[in-house]
Amino acid sequence: MQDILRRLADKRAGARAGGGARRVEAQHAKGKLTARERLEVLLDEGSFEEWDMFVEHRSSEFGMADQKTPGDGVVTGWGTVNGRLVFVFSQDFTVLGGSLSEAHAEKICKIMDHAMKVGAPVIGLNDSGGARIQEGVASLAGYAEVFQRNVEASGVIPQLSVIMGPCAGGAVYSPAMTDFIFMVKDSSYMFVTGPDVVKTVTHESVTHEELGGAITHTTRSGVADLAFENDVEALLQVRRFVDFLPASNRAAPPHRPTEDSPDRIEPALDTLVPANPNKPYDMKELIVKVVDDGDFFEIQPEYARNMIVGFGRIEGSTVGFVANQPMVLAGCLDIDSSKKAARFVRFCDCFNIPIVTLVDVPGFLPGTAQEYGGIIKHGAKLLFAYAEATVPKVTLITRKAYGGAYDVMASKHLRGDVNYAWPSAEIAVMGPKGAVEIIFRADLGDPKKIEERTEEYRARFANPFVAASRGFIDDVIMPSATRPRLARSLAMLRTKKLENPWKKHANIPL
Ligand code: HXC
Repeated sequence: MQDILRRLADKRAGARAGGGARRVEAQHAKGKLTARERLEVLLDEGSFEEWDMFVEHRSSEFGMADQKTPGDGVVTGWGTVNGRLVFVFSQDFTVLGGSLSEAHAEKICKIMDHAMKVGAPVIGLNDSGGARIQEGVASLAGYAEVFQRNVEASGVIPQLSVIMGPCAGGAVYSPAMTDFIFMVKDSSYMFVTGPDVVKTVTHESVTHEELGGAITHTTRSGVADLAFENDVEALLQVRRFVDFLPASNRAAPPHRPTEDSPDRIEPALDTLVPANPNKPYDMKELIVKVVDDGDFFEIQPEYARNMIVGFGRIEGSTVGFVANQPMVLAGCLDIDSSKKAARFVRFCDCFNIPIVTLVDVPGFLPGTAQEYGGIIKHGAKLLFAYAEATVPKVTLITRKAYGGAYDVMASKHLRGDVNYAWPSAEIAVMGPKGAVEIIFRADLGDPKKIEERTEEYRARFANPFVAASRGFIDDVIMPSATRPRLARSLAMLRTKKLENPWKKHANIPL
């Protein structure tokens, strides 16, 4: 018996050693934690249940029969984050560069299948040289098995990818199909073709970091959601993030008790909107003041900054916030901000998370770049996402809500459940100046007359009461009372039931 126990201990020690001390040292020298160290930071202490520690690859090509490490380059299993169940895989770069073999893929698929069965998120820690080159097409098949599961799990369980090393070629498409991508600065990158191929094909010289680093993907491409300084920071933020997420599409958003009263009045909000309608203000101030304990988890803060999206809680329950940011491009809708918000709205709708929309939007961004770039299709994504969403939708117009952008931003007409405006709201087909220049074109030569007409238009239409008189706005509320009013509406909507007509799936303008 002692021998059998020793054999088990030896096997476990072999798996835990990964690629050996030299490669672990090299991993640390790059400022990276090992696969197991990462799971220790991510999961509650002592909660990790490892599966498939003894799985080995089945390849014998290119001397692979002698290169077997128990676990085959990925640590998989389940554990808890602040007491809530999550399934995890963590690729071990010290074992054949974390490359994905058929067996490695089977381990990932196994935990994805179980996560689907029990209804719990999957968190993938990616650090891999891609397809196990010695295995060839068996490895490609393994990737495709993972891809298929990513798609089937989409909208059923939250999927989060943390990129903590290389992620190149077709391997990028698994993270790309998950709900959120977090990256670590300087040690992670994602690209379809690397700098060498780029140089050969397009003659561009570009570094790994420039082409696909964390800053590139969180500021330029929008592929990733957040960039962190190092592994530990990234993993601790994943823990914070998971607290906002429901376990599955069958579960309610998590509830976290708070001392922060839902009736809290915020007098400072009464002066947030400047008297001059062309002066910006920071919409984030409003969000931070209305959420529980000022705790707001922003997604994609550095990409399409004219739109803010992220999670907060009101009365302890998760709420998705979508807000125009007047500080950037006057808060207008453009291609990037439409895509960013549309994807977020759809995530919330998949996972029963109520959406609060804060509106200050002068319209769509004009210009050839936008039109040639397809703003028509991209703007339609946001419109489509809001219109199909059946979760509770509460909207507050703080200032401008002009033209088509008024309709798009969770208006009453797109089944907004509760639509509020502040007294400073201006809900109209366009701004006073533009409107007067069209209606009174004949007076354009007379600046005084135009000014009078503009003032007349402003007084008549640049307010919330025309919309309120039609019932498009349910109430005009005091800014300071925003949190209590949102809290009451969300509480009233907790039992909301609404279904879209049966269909196989909709055809969102992609
Ligand atoms: C097998 C691999 C590997 C791979 C790395 N290794 N990538 N083994 N298959 N794909 C091994 C190395 O041989 C080495 O083994 C160890 O992992 C660490 O690699 P290094 O090169 O020493 O590390 P580093 O200098 O940090 O460079 C990392 C790297 C580089 C940039 C990822 O290893 C690399 O370019 N690898 C090949 C990447 C690649 O072409 N992948 C296939 C792409 S096709 P030892 O024993 O020395 O420690 C693809 C398609 C997916 O992924 C399609 C999905 C549909």
